Amino acid sequence: MNPAASIDGNTYLNDTSSLVDRILERHLPADQTPPTTLHQAMRYSVMAGGKRLRPGLALAVFEYAGGDGKKAPDTIHKAMAALEMVHTYSLIHDDLPCMDDDDLRRGRPTCHKQFNEAVAVLAGDALHVLAFDLMAQTGSNRAVLELAEAVSTGGMLGGQIADVEAEGREVSYEEIKSIHTRKTGALIRGAVRIGAILADANEELLARLTVYGERIGLAFQVIDDILDIEGDEKLLGKEVGSDSKNQKATYPAVIGLEKSHDEARRLINEGLAVFADEEDHVLKFLARYIGQRAY
Ligand code: IPE
Ligand code: IPE
Ligand code: MG
Ligand code: MG
Ligand code: MG
Repeated sequence: MNPAASIDGNTYLNDTSSLVDRILERHLPADQTPPTTLHQAMRYSVMAGGKRLRPGLALAVFEYAGGDGKKAPDTIHKAMAALEMVHTYSLIHDDLPCMDDDDLRRGRPTCHKQFNEAVAVLAGDALHVLAFDLMAQTGSNRAVLELAEAVSTGGMLGGQIADVEAEGREVSYEEIKSIHTRKTGALIRGAVRIGAILADANEELLARLTVYGERIGLAFQVIDDILDIEGDEKLLGKEVGSDSKNQKATYPAVIGLEKSHDEARRLINEGLAVFADEEDHVLKFLARYIGQRAY
């Protein structure tokens, strides 16, 4: 694989997804190893596919920042697995009846539908703890702290509780921006920063890449909201209309569909502006892909 030769972000993610799958395969406990139900459920949700955006971004940033994956491939690879495991854990819990109550994920019945709620809760917990185990194995204390910050009550978990508590009531633009920045933006920002940290990026570059991660991370959730209205269930692999069913606070609900599209475009352009004057490269492709994705 030569990322620089990728023609667009979608191609890049497709190219890297087989690498991501191999890494995940290596680090997930075997189905036959007890407790088998738990290991089966972890594998069921993680190996169901998905875009692998967070590990793809971490790898692309790592390479952009001059990280040498050949010298220590295990380091960035373990971080990539950790990011995808945290993300998948968040999806398993997000789909539970007590949260968004969804039946379809990554084109399959959700974890609690396929197994049961107790298994789904525990499989999510197990992926969460395995993710931190793997991130610790990178030997980078800073990367572990980044992941903790991204998932914390100040990040993804804070966003998820705010999302649940906003159901059924009117929220302001500032509020929806804050919810989305945390529930989805924080882990995408974290993936970018972890890629840079593991590549030993200097603080100036890290700060610039952080702006990139923040803008595309928020844009990603704005588009997710839009796709819940305009998207194709088959392509998405999850039910559309889930947000209105749950009276969720979303960008389209707060500012309308058209302005949501404008907002996503603006955020992607701000992310791209970090690389002003640079020739096209994978991080620019990925930003454009996030702005245009259909699934
Ligand atoms: C879905 O994430 C949940 C959000 C944070 C919006 P993705 O759209 O990245 O889901 P997968 O990993 O491709 O299944
Ligand atoms: C999910 O947001 C955010 C996290 C899982 C942290 P959504 O609830 O909008 O994601 P989907 O639409 O179910 O994938
Ligand atoms: Mg949700
Ligand atoms: Mg959901
Ligand atoms: Mg959604």
